[in-house]
Amino acid sequence: MARRKISIIGAGFVGATAAHWAAEKELGDVVLVDIIEGIPQGKALDLFEASPVEGFDSKVTGTNNYDETKNSDVVIITSGVPRKPGMSREDLLEINKKIIESVAAQVVERSPNAILIMVTNPLDSMTYLTVKRSGLPKERVIGMAGILDTARYKAFIAMELSVSVEDIQALLLGGHGDEMVPLPRFTTISGIPLSQLLPKETIDRLVDRTRKGGGEIVNLLKTGSAFYAPSAAAIQMTEAILKDKKRILPCCVYLNGEYGLKDICFGVPVKLGAKGVESIIELQLTDEEKALVTKSAESVKKSISELKI
Ligand SMILES: NC(=O)c1ccc[n+]([C@@H]2O[C@H](COP(=O)([O-])OP(=O)(O)OC[C@H]3O[C@@H](n4cnc5c(N)ncnc54)[C@H](O)[C@@H]3O)[C@@H](O)[C@H]2O)c1
Repeated sequence: MARRKISIIGAGFVGATAAHWAAEKELGDVVLVDIIEGIPQGKALDLFEASPVEGFDSKVTGTNNYDETKNSDVVIITSGVPRKPGMSREDLLEINKKIIESVAAQVVERSPNAILIMVTNPLDSMTYLTVKRSGLPKERVIGMAGILDTARYKAFIAMELSVSVEDIQALLLGGHGDEMVPLPRFTTISGIPLSQLLPKETIDRLVDRTRKGGGEIVNLLKTGSAFYAPSAAAIQMTEAILKDKKRILPCCVYLNGEYGLKDICFGVPVKLGAKGVESIIELQLTDEEKALVTKSAESVKKSISELKI
C-alpha cells in the first residue's frame, strides 16, 4: 500500500513545524512548498536528516514546484504574509487573499481529491474564500482554529488545577479571534464539571486569557506569532482524516443553516474522518451562549464581506 501524502504550503514557522510533527508521527510522506528558493528544500532535508536519529520512516521533500504535491491526500495551507508595521488589516486581507487564491488553484489542479486544511489568517475568511474558489465540496475545506483555541483553554485549566492536560475535555465555538465562544458548561475534568472545581471568577479569567491567547504569544515573541500549538492542531486534524478516526473536534467549516447561520465559515464541533467533515454537531445552547455565537458570527460575516467576492 502506498504511503499517504501530506503537502504543506508555506514552509515558515507553522508549516515547517507541522512537517516536523507529521513526519515524526509517520502520518505519511511530506512535501513542503514555499515561494522562497532554498527554504523548503533546506528545512525538508534537515528534517529528513533527523529521521535516522528519531527513527521515523517518512520521506520529506522541499520544493518550489507544485508538481511534487500531485495526488496529495491532505494539503495544509499556511502560506501568507504577516501584518507588518504600517500595513492596514485591509491591505493584509488583500495580499493573503491573492496568495490563497493562487495557492488553492495550484493545489487543486494537482490533487483534486485532497482534503484542504486552512491555517492562514484571517482564518474564517480564508477558509470561506477557499470553499468558494477551489470548487471542492465544502466537506473537504476545513479551517484550523478551534482545536488551537481549545488547546489553550485546556492548557490554562491544567495549569490552574495542576492536573494532567489529558484529563480535560472542552469545546469551543465561533470565529477565530477575541470573540470566540468558550463553553465552560461543556468543560469537564475526567467527567467532573469544571464549575465543581473552580469558582466562576477563575473560570472567567481563564476564558478571557483563552480569547487573548494568540496576542499573549505575539507580545512575548515580539516578532512572529504562535507556531507549536497551531501546527500541532493542524496535524491532529490531518491524523483524524488519514486514520479515519471520526474524532469530534472544533473546526471552521461552511455552514448552511446549522446554528441558524448560512453562507459563513464558522467554528463548530464536527466529526472528522476520511471524507473530511462527516457531520456537523449542533449543540443545544442557552440564550446566553446563543447571544455570544451571534456576536461572533457578526464579526466573521464582516470579515468575509471585506473579501468582496
Ligand atoms: N489559524 C490559526 O489559528 C493560526 C495560528 C497561527 C498562525 N496562523 C497563520 O498561519 C500563517 C503562517 O504563519 P507562520 O508563522 O508560519 O508565518 P511565516 O511567515 O513564518 O510563514 C509563511 C510562509 O508562507 C510563504 N509564502 C508566502 N507566499 C507564498 C506563496 N504564494 N506560496 C507559497 N508560500 C508562500 C512565506 O515565504 C513564508 O515562508 C499566517 O497567516 C498566520 O497568521 C494561523
